[in-house]
Amino acid sequence: MNILIINGPNLNLLGRREPDKYGHQTLTDIVDALTAQADSAGATLSHFQSNAEHAIIDRIHQAMDTADAIIINPGALTHTSIGLRDALLAVQVPFFEVHLSNIHARESFRHHSYLSDVAAGVIVGMGPIGYALALTAALNLPSKQQN
Ligand code: DQA
Repeated sequence: MNILIINGPNLNLLGRREPDKYGHQTLTDIVDALTAQADSAGATLSHFQSNAEHAIIDRIHQAMDTADAIIINPGALTHTSIGLRDALLAVQVPFFEVHLSNIHARESFRHHSYLSDVAAGVIVGMGPIGYALALTAALNLPSKQQN
């Protein structure tokens, strides 16, 4: 089972960026924990972070024939990007949307997501454990190919 984790704009700054909202763990801390979780389930985890919308869309296209599931925290692109929605719909890989903070308890412009209605699942407001919960859900999906 191959799972791709994608983190969007500004999430490379986790640990230093608004820690009151996003916590003290770095992205490396989070990805290391997810890698250990995937390893113990016999799955392969890939991680991609970019601040550029086109790079994220290109990475999603690459995942079309290889990933069984995508876990994505699109950052601010959640609230703006029809292109990201279209890419995820195009590749037809089930995806889980994760947000560290509870976007529904924040500014009104964060309440709408262009992805949630086409996601396999959405986790908000649970901090880094949200990624682990999404990975647990992804590991329970049927696998496309044998590893
Ligand atoms: C976020 C929430 C978004 O509104 C924000 O733009 C982010 C992080 C979260 O993880 O809580 O960059 O996706």
